[in-house]
Amino acid sequence: MKRAVYPGSFDPVTFGHLDVIKRASQIFDVLIVSVLNNKEKSPLFSVEERVKILQEATKEIPNVQVDSFSGLLIDYAAENDLHIAVRGLRAITDFEYELQIAQTNRKLSREKLDTMFLTTSLEYAYLSSSSVKEIASFGGDISQCVPDFVAELIFEKYRIRQNKNKE
Ligand code: PNS
Repeated sequence: MKRAVYPGSFDPVTFGHLDVIKRASQIFDVLIVSVLNNKEKSPLFSVEERVKILQEATKEIPNVQVDSFSGLLIDYAAENDLHIAVRGLRAITDFEYELQIAQTNRKLSREKLDTMFLTTSLEYAYLSSSSVKEIASFGGDISQCVPDFVAELIFEKYRIRQNKNKE
């Protein structure tokens, strides 16, 4: 059985991520989308929330599983017997960063973890979780960036933040 992991922050998942998930799920028998629990970042959504959002957003794709991990990807991959990581490439600006991570992972894992890149569909090439959050924080329209239920959750987060700031 061909299994792969798609690691990321997914804070929050965008249509760009979902495009990669759909396409990778057609290549592998099982795709594990795994949310990085990065304690140094201050995410909009907790890991648990991001896992739930991903589960809801991928519920129609039977061979997609959602998980989370902390620490190094190579350790998580080894513990779960995963040998391929999937990543999306939007533009040349992603390439340098992704190449460095992929090569580091391959070296550190003694060639046990390879990375497979899918080029993001052109219609989503401009999308990033950070820009979605920035647009939403100013009340902009993110309906073309994330599923409706995710947009509602993002706006809800910013409403809570704004109310806290007023207190
Ligand atoms: O969605 P992101 O934030 O671009 O995803 C980055 C991610 C999670 C793939 C990458 O930061 C990662 O794998 N982090 C885990 C820590 C790790 O293994 N670092 C070594 C790579 S140099």
